[in-house]
Amino acid sequence: GFVVRLARSGRTIPVAAGSTILDALQAQGVPVPSSCQQGVCGVCETAVLSGTPDHRDLVLSEQERAAGRTMMICCSGSKTPELTLDV
Ligand code: FES
Repeated sequence: GFVVRLARSGRTIPVAAGSTILDALQAQGVPVPSSCQQGVCGVCETAVLSGTPDHRDLVLSEQERAAGRTMMICCSGSKTPELTLDV
């Protein structure tokens, strides 16, 4: 697992291994848009302010993956112990 820090509220939310960021945020009552939940629609795209996403979606280009400034939170994880999101 890892921890997601929400830049706008200052909240910190743990994401258990095997869970998704989207699930963790929704479980904590944080409203975030989503649709397919399979990494194909792009609706859950979220800006990354720090940390390194582990991209598992089919939306981003190779360049966008490498840049690491945005991610699909329905399916992608984190390569770092903490991710700060613009949420
Ligand atoms: Fe469709 Fe995340 S909800 S890509």
